[in-house]
Amino acid sequence: MSASAQIGVTGLAVMGRNLARNFARNGYTVAVHNRTAAKARALVDEFGDEGEFVLAETAEDFVAALERPRRLVVMVKAGEPTDAVIKEFAPLLEPGDMIVDGGNAHFADTRRRERELREQGIHFVGTGVSGGEEGALNGPSIMPGGSKESYDALGPMLEKISAKAADGSPCTAHIGPDGAGHFVKMVHNGIEYADMQLIAEAYQLLREVAGYSPAEIADIFRTWNTGRLDSYLIEITAEVLAHVDAATGEPFVDVVQDQAEQKGTGRWTVQIALDLGVPVSGIAEAVFARSLSGHKDLRDASRGLAGPKAEPLAKEEAAAFADQVEQALYASKIVSYTQGFHEIAAGSDEYGWDIDLGQVSAIWRGGCIIRAAFLDRIRAAYDARADLPSLLADDGFAREIGEAQDDWRAVLVAATRQGVPAPGFAAALAYYDALRADRLPAALTQGQRDYFGAHTYRRTDREGSFHTLWGGDRSEVSA
Ligand code: 6PG
Repeated sequence: MSASAQIGVTGLAVMGRNLARNFARNGYTVAVHNRTAAKARALVDEFGDEGEFVLAETAEDFVAALERPRRLVVMVKAGEPTDAVIKEFAPLLEPGDMIVDGGNAHFADTRRRERELREQGIHFVGTGVSGGEEGALNGPSIMPGGSKESYDALGPMLEKISAKAADGSPCTAHIGPDGAGHFVKMVHNGIEYADMQLIAEAYQLLREVAGYSPAEIADIFRTWNTGRLDSYLIEITAEVLAHVDAATGEPFVDVVQDQAEQKGTGRWTVQIALDLGVPVSGIAEAVFARSLSGHKDLRDASRGLAGPKAEPLAKEEAAAFADQVEQALYASKIVSYTQGFHEIAAGSDEYGWDIDLGQVSAIWRGGCIIRAAFLDRIRAAYDARADLPSLLADDGFAREIGEAQDDWRAVLVAATRQGVPAPGFAAALAYYDALRADRLPAALTQGQRDYFGAHTYRRTDREGSFHTLWGGDRSEVSA
């Protein structure tokens, strides 16, 4: 087999297949391989006319089909299958070759794999790919980690197949060494969970407090999508809400079981944030909301618990309430992104990745699930000030959230009065209020810790650590 392919894709389930086709459609010769060769054959049979494919039936043929340095893209299920593929191919590769993992891998696994393969001179490029199957085919947002050298060899190809932002720039860039790409993809998904949860809360409030039907709410979302909330997730929400189930004639959203599932990237975002000490309360509430929804037995046992007896709003009040919900949604969204970018900054510091936050927001503007007009704003905020300590420190966001806060609070009052859970909105507001507070009750927490465990505290008026002799004469000693 002659080495004619510029890139190879192994693992041809829907994401791998579409990514291979995307490379071929962009003029690259693509070697395709799958554990069961029939899938590779089917791809070439079905889509062979879209570009140049080289069918590789064995691992040896696949490696032999690739130009040097070899670029081998692995699109298998994250976890053990990735290790199995690496084990199979690494012995066949040579120094300088690249293994690109485009799955949703945990960044700690990516760091380990990168280290192990580096010893062999092989570049391991853990790469976040967002945009679902449609994005993989027509242009995803791509978040590659790994060495700078590997990006030099791979970057131009990724730039070609990636989505393009409205200004024409590619939605990919070198994120940073080893696990940086998968870390950023993980946080992308955490933000995705938060965005989805906030949208779901907005829907529930419009339905239960304002009394709108799913079709009416779809129209409200369509209107919001023409403004500052313009985003892929708002757009598809309107589509889902407007959809009517063919079998029953009921709104589709009413015939789907209300138990949300998750594959794990949102949960990882929260687990890692806990380790890094970063408060991502909005993302955490989104993960917990999915988890709570899935506890069917618990919910069945609790359905009869007392709730408020409140009437939905009168028709004439509903429209004004919808405007308030838009404000609450937008303000809470600012908080989710603030928390997510804080986590990326903390991860970057912890692992020495030197991630450019403005660039991350720029490559999320197209292709990915959280693509939104809003990301241009975030990029502008970091462009104006690369060391911005928080998105809330940006004048524009601070002003907008300040203008939204009265409505945001009113929505939460209505939610509480009506007994509609809005944990995402509430967590976001609590984060905002905690950050802007002059004094937090953390001082009392410190006092309690010192009382029961002699854990010591620091004073506002003097340097040093202190302990009060709570069990004795309550005098204070230096600790
Ligand atoms: C994307 C998506 C994609 C996928 C996630 C979320 O960026 O293209 O985030 O990675 O849809 O796996 O799935 P769960 O909701 O099942 O966790």
